[in-house]
Parts: sequence; C-alpha cells; structure tokens
Amino acid sequence: LQILFVLSEMVPYSKTGGLADVGGALPLALQQLGDDIRVLVPWYGRPEQNEMHRLCAVNVPYTHEPAELWITTNRPQVYFLRYPAYYEREGGPYQNALGQDWPDNPRRFALLNRVAVELAQGRISGLDWRPDLVHVHDWQTGLIPYLLELETRVGSTRPATLFTIHNLAYQGRFDPAIMNELHLPGADFHWQGTELYGAFSFMKAGLVYSDRLSTVSPTYAQEIQTDAFGMGLQGLLQQRASQLSGILNGVDEVHWNPRADPYLPAHYHARNLVGKSQCKIQLQQQLGLESQPDTFLLGMISRLVEQKGIDMVLDVLPDLLQRGMQVAILGSGEKHFEARLQELAAIHPGRLAVHIGFDEGLSHRIEAGADAFLMPSRFEPCGLNQMYSLRYGTLPIVHQTGGLADTVVDAGDIARDHERNGFVFSMAHSDDLHHAALRAAALFQQPAAWQRLQQQAMAGNYSWEHSALAYQRLYQQILARP
Ligand code: ADP
Ligand code: GLC
Repeated sequence: LQILFVLSEMVPYSKTGGLADVGGALPLALQQLGDDIRVLVPWYGRPEQNEMHRLCAVNVPYTHEPAELWITTNRPQVYFLRYPAYYEREGGPYQNALGQDWPDNPRRFALLNRVAVELAQGRISGLDWRPDLVHVHDWQTGLIPYLLELETRVGSTRPATLFTIHNLAYQGRFDPAIMNELHLPGADFHWQGTELYGAFSFMKAGLVYSDRLSTVSPTYAQEIQTDAFGMGLQGLLQQRASQLSGILNGVDEVHWNPRADPYLPAHYHARNLVGKSQCKIQLQQQLGLESQPDTFLLGMISRLVEQKGIDMVLDVLPDLLQRGMQVAILGSGEKHFEARLQELAAIHPGRLAVHIGFDEGLSHRIEAGADAFLMPSRFEPCGLNQMYSLRYGTLPIVHQTGGLADTVVDAGDIARDHERNGFVFSMAHSDDLHHAALRAAALFQQPAAWQRLQQQAMAGNYSWEHSALAYQRLYQQILARP
C-alpha cells in the first residue's frame, strides 16, 4: 500500500505530546509490515541528525512566496514543509512562549493541508508518487479530507482518507471569515458540513469528509459518542459510529526499554528489579528528595492542563505528603498550575519535587525511579505514560477512562488475576484519586504482592506492531469499499 501520513508533530523532530510519539513510531511499524509510507510534517527548525535535500518549491494560492519541500534519505521517508514565516519561530508548534495560540494558526495549518493535497494528487513536480490512502491526524490536518472531497467535485479522482482523532478537545475552531482567506467555498458552512456552533472547524471538516474515522483506544471510541465526552461532536460521531474504530497506540520499545535505556543510571528487567531501586535512589538525589529507599515515591509527567487532572492532584498532594509519601512531578502548561505546584514544593522540601519544563531524560528517570505513577486524566484518548509506566514496573494509578481503562487492570480485580497491573478509580473526583493512592501505598507495604503486580505490568505487550497490523487491516477495508 502507498500511504501518505500527515501530522503536525513528530519525534525526533518536534514534540508537544503523544501525537509526536505516534508520528515517530507508527509509520516505521507500518513500513516494517511492507507498506510504502511517507510522512509530511512542518519544518519547525533544521532537523539535526538527518541527511536531507530540497525537493522542490510548491506554489499555494494564498502565501506570498512558494513553500519548499525537503526530503529525508532514510525510510520511512519524511517530507518537511518549509515556510519560515509560518513555522520557524521562537515558541512551540501551536503556541508562543507565553502559552498563547499563534493567531495565524488557521493559515499555518491550512498551508500544510494544501501541500498535502498536492502530494496526494501527484502534483508535486519531480515526484512520481501518489498514495492510495491519506491518513491524517487531529484538527491540524482536518482540511485535507475536505479539500480532497472538493477535488472530486471538479471531476478529479482522489485517494481514500482516514482521520484519526487523538484529542477531541482541540477542534481548530475559527471565525468563519477565515474561509475567504483560505479560498474555501462558503457553501459547505452548515451543520452537516464545516460549521460547529457558529465557527469554522478544521476538526469537523475532517470528521465529516473523511472516508473513515478512528481514535486511539476502543473505550475512547465509545466515549466520544456520549454527551459527557463528545465535546459537541457526539451527534456526528454517533451518526458515523459504524465507520469509527478504536485502535490502541503502542510503545516505542527501543526508546522505552528499562533493560537498555541510555537515560537511566541502572538497568533492570522483570526478574531482577535491583536496577530499579538504584534508579530510585539516584532520582531522589537528583531531585533533592530525602534519600529514603523505602518511602513510597509517586511520579507524574504531564501537560499541566485540566484534561490531565492536575487540579485533583493539587487537592490530594498535601495529605499524601503529610502521610510521608514523596512525589516527583515533571510538566509544563497552564501558568496557574505551574505556580501552585511550585508553591507547594516550596512548602514541602525533600518530599515534593516539581520540575517545570520539558525534559526527555528526566521523564525516563521518573518512569524508572518512581514506585507508582499518577495519571488521573478526566479523559484520555489513549495515553502513553501509563504504558511507559507499565513497562518500567511503575504501577499506574489512573481514572477509568479512554486508553487508561483499556490498559490498566485494578489490583483488586480478582476476576482478572493475571492481568492486574495498577490502580483504577471510577469517578474523576479528588476523593477517588485520594482513595486509590492510599490503596497503592498500602499495597506497597506488601513487597511480594507489589512485586507480582510489577511483573505482570512488565509482561504486557504494548508493541507498535500490534497497532500497525490493526491499521493495515483498516486501510485495506477502506480501500476495498465499493
Ligand atoms: P498527551 O499527548 O495528551 O500529552 P500522552 O500520554 O499520549 O498525552 O503523551 C505525552 C507524551 O509527552 C509522553 O511521551 C510524555 O512522556 C511526554 N511528556 C509530557 N510532558 C513532558 C515533559 N514535561 N517532559 C518530557 N516529556 C513529557
Ligand atoms: C493525544 C491524547 C493522548 C494520546 C495521544 C497520542 O494527545 O491526549 O491520550 O495518547 O494523543 O495518540
């Protein structure tokens, strides 16, 4: 199969969250299954480690100068879309350094979408390649299925399309005046088209005009059809339910492997966890926590936004610390959460370590050094950190939602004895989180029982190969459509 994969961030070139991890791993896994998969991403700065060359200039109607396509020599092949005025800025892919959305986001991502369509339609000069299917991800690529649909209205053929929802909360909603600027017809701006509560929505365009839809866990695929999780799109998703699948993400098993992780001071595996204890001691030292190997240490690595339940963590922290637990938090996001965490850390030196920022190495050391991992997300389409935690023998404490519900089995779930691997609470309330953390702390006092759960967690299979096979089957189904 020839697949064009389009997304807005990709490891190792750019990352704000799990989407980038998927971009780095899934195309590779699909390639290993024999697909000819090529990825298109914006160029936010020169990728360091890559051999690459300029392929061509691409003209798009509403930009002043032509954009450029660059291409890597390694496989899977990556096409970088270069347009410095849009992408090469101080700050993140979506926001400036103050955490405000770039005001020209609709134009920035529409350019990516337009160029994707040129690639999809085989109109890039010097490139003799056309995909059978275009696989797009989240609102930043939502116009692609729509623009391809517009192509068919003027008599062109087009590849099949699949839109994957990684997070329904970010809908790419803009003032409808943007349609004019982006040369989009107004005729589709209605409730069965691109309109969402009066705004023009990139996400909605993707959901309406894609041949098929998917999301990143089976439970989230169900949840988003309900009022509680549908974010205003539940009606549309119910209507398209038979064309909506849930495929769980995997873990990059080379990058996240406690036997060989280069970021760790010691290595370990399920049958010998001595290295994990060493990681804990070193983590306590590095973060200025009291050196107490037997103290229960909770870790958390997260975007600090409401989705992730950081407010619930703030509620329960004082009591957990008072009971003698230690907590290590790495994250960045909304400034008021960052400030409250730092205030608490100042009151509890040696017990609570807060590191604000993005730090790949520290994230691995927390995954390895902590005993348990906090992930009380209100909703979680898939979630990767709970899976990293499982692989690292760090038992996750999670809210029963989305991908968390699909990967973590509660220690008390006797019916699933051999799958038990963490702590699950059913309501997104601080009290429930608190109760789950206390249950975890109590079980930690029983080393044999705890170790058994660790071994079960580490024995799980979270490989990308499994997910890639499911995507491959889905691609084939879409292409087999009449
Ligand atoms: P989301 O994509 O919603 O943020 P995921 O759990 O799918 O949630 O993925 C988050 C990814 O980003 C993980 O790889 C996680 O380790 C990483 N991450 C999040 N915050 C940080 C941080 N402050 N430093 C390093 N890595 C982080
Ligand atoms: C989103 C979701 C997260 C998921 C990730 C990758 O950022 O919030 O749950 O794991 O995408 O699919």
